[in-house]
Amino acid sequence: MRTNVPLVLATQHGSLRLLTLNRADKLNAFTPEMLASLAAEIDEAVADAATRVIAVTGSGAKAFAAGNDIERLVSLDGVAAYRDMLAGQRALLSLHDCAKPTIAMVNGYALGGGFELALACDFIVASTNASFAFPEITLNTMPGWGGTQLAVAKMGLACAKRFVLSGNRFTAQECEAFGFIHELASPDKLFEVVQSVAATLAAYDPFAVEMAKRALNRASELPLSAGLDFEAAQYAVNFSSEGARAGLRQFMERKQARRSARSNPAPATP
Ligand code: COA
Repeated sequence: MRTNVPLVLATQHGSLRLLTLNRADKLNAFTPEMLASLAAEIDEAVADAATRVIAVTGSGAKAFAAGNDIERLVSLDGVAAYRDMLAGQRALLSLHDCAKPTIAMVNGYALGGGFELALACDFIVASTNASFAFPEITLNTMPGWGGTQLAVAKMGLACAKRFVLSGNRFTAQECEAFGFIHELASPDKLFEVVQSVAATLAAYDPFAVEMAKRALNRASELPLSAGLDFEAAQYAVNFSSEGARAGLRQFMERKQARRSARSNPAPATP
C-alpha cells in the first residue's frame, strides 16, 4: 500500500525542472492519480519564473513509463475510457503546448502512454538501452493519449503506421535513425546530456523561445497560408519585445566594434 509517496517527484537543477514518474515497481505505468500529479507538476513548473526548461523521466533503471495501467483499463467501460483518454491528452499535450521547452529523458521502456509522453515533449534524449513501442494493437486497442497524431507529426505517416499497426518495439538506435530522437547517451551520461541540451535552450530569451515554439506547433495543424500568417504575427509580437531589440542591437554593436578594430588596427608592438 503506497501512502504519502509522491507519484511524481520534482527536483530543481538550476533553471531545469526535472519531473520523475515515481512508480518503478510497476515500470511507471500511469494511474489517474499519477497523471493528475504530473499535470499539476507541469502547471507548477510552467508558472515558476526560475524554471526555463522542463524535463520528464521515469524512476528505476528499467522504464521511462510502460504506459497506461492495464490492470485498471480492464475495468473501464467505453465512457470511462473516453474520459481517461481526454485526461491523458490534456496532461501530456500540456508539455507540447506550454510556453517552455520540454525534454523527455527516456531511460528505458517508453511504451504506449509512455511513448506518447515522450512524443509530447519538444526533445527526446534517450539512453542507449531505451526502447519505444505502441503495444496497444497487441491488446486489440490503440493509442489514445495523442499518440496517433503526435507520431505522425514527429516521424511521418509511414513510420507512425509502422509503430501503431505493428506494435513492434524499436531500439533507441533504430529510433534515432527514424529521426525523432534528439540525442542518444549512455545510461550513466543521460542526465548530463539532458542538462547540456537544457543549458543551450535556457541561454536564449524565453519569450523568443516561446513564440518560436508556438509557431512550430501550429505547422502541423494549419494550412500553409494560415501557418505563415500565424508565423508573421508571432514574429511581430516577439519583435516588439525588449529581448529581440537587445539581441539585434548587440549583434550590431559587435559588428561595429569589429569594423572599428579593422579600420584602426592597434599599433604593432616593437
Ligand atoms: N500496466 C500495469 N502494470 C504494468 C504495466 C502496465 N502497462 N507494465 C508493467 N506493469 C507491471 C507488471 O505487471 C509487473 O507488476 P507485478 O510485479 O505486480 O507483476 C511490473 O510492472 C514489472 O513488469 P514485468 O512485466 O514483470 O517486467 P518485464 O521486464 O518482465 O516486462 C514489459 C516488461 C514492459 C515488457 C512488460 O511489463 C509489458 O509488456 N508491459 C505492458 C506494456 C504495455 O502494453 N503498455 C501499453 C499499455 S496500454
